[in-house]
Amino acid sequence: GGKQPTYRIGFSQCSMAGPWREAMLAGMERELSFHPDVELRMLDAHDNSQVQQQQIRELLRGGIDLLIVSPYEAGPVTPAVEEAYRRGVPVILLDRRTASGQYTAYVGGDNLEVGQTAARYAARLLNHHGRIIEVLGTPGSSATSERHQGFAQTLTAYPDMRVVSQVTGDWTEKKLPELATALKAHPEVSLIFAHNDGMGRGAAEICRQLGLDKKVKIIGVDGLAGKNEGLDLVQRGVETASVLYSPGGEDAIRTALSILHKQPYKRENMLGTIVIDSTNVRTMQQQTDKMITQQEDIERQQSLLQRLRATYASQQTVLYGLLVT
Ligand code: FRU
Repeated sequence: GGKQPTYRIGFSQCSMAGPWREAMLAGMERELSFHPDVELRMLDAHDNSQVQQQQIRELLRGGIDLLIVSPYEAGPVTPAVEEAYRRGVPVILLDRRTASGQYTAYVGGDNLEVGQTAARYAARLLNHHGRIIEVLGTPGSSATSERHQGFAQTLTAYPDMRVVSQVTGDWTEKKLPELATALKAHPEVSLIFAHNDGMGRGAAEICRQLGLDKKVKIIGVDGLAGKNEGLDLVQRGVETASVLYSPGGEDAIRTALSILHKQPYKRENMLGTIVIDSTNVRTMQQQTDKMITQQEDIERQQSLLQRLRATYASQQTVLYGLLVT
């Protein structure tokens, strides 16, 4: 202990609400546990772009070697991120983008592809005919505009598939008052594309209340493990499918270390996606269970190593004591 970190990474996180962001941070910490000389300082902007700008500037003032940022809204957060970049602090955009090309690398899912994948799946599910309600994330988030764009683009290939209403959910299931109104105004709707599983879960609940749960199918995004998360929702038939969107915490730290160590790295690091539905949800669950067990093994090994090191250090002290007397 007591040693100065070799590198300090500042992390401006748009929000820590919900298990997807927790999984992101856990992934970062998992990767960082192999690099004890790297210090991570995270500030949580609580879904507020003003706060996020201030926090980015605060991180810069504190002195950081690299900035990782997941912007709440692209536009408003851009000036502070550009400031960092222009000062020579490498910038990694994680999961969401700014409105600017001034960044060192992007790490995260391909949100255009997420939207396209959802649309192709919807078309197959509905045999190319159907009316859709789209439940969007926060309007200013890059993930919202890209998911929307990918979805709309791909739907143009299916003339009898149409989005008849759009509702903004702000990434949370608690903000869907307009959805019931939209569903009542459009009884022909047979599918909801929700930009994340949280809003998919909220949409399912509203459909249930309106007695539409047999009629309206729901596609979400994220595909997280855990109770009431994507895999579980698909498993229970609450959602028909979830498009996997990895939080990418490990990947962000790996890219950060390559940049800091002046090793080669890619500027665009797109994490793959896949549709999770009833045909593969069990396999996915088994895979994540296995990963959790492996992670527990790694943690056990790490604490064992720490204990060995402590024993070794105390033996050194004893030995030294014997030598000097
Ligand atoms: C979590 C979240 C995820 C979503 C991502 C988009 O804050 O809303 O559910 O996939 O952010 O950036």
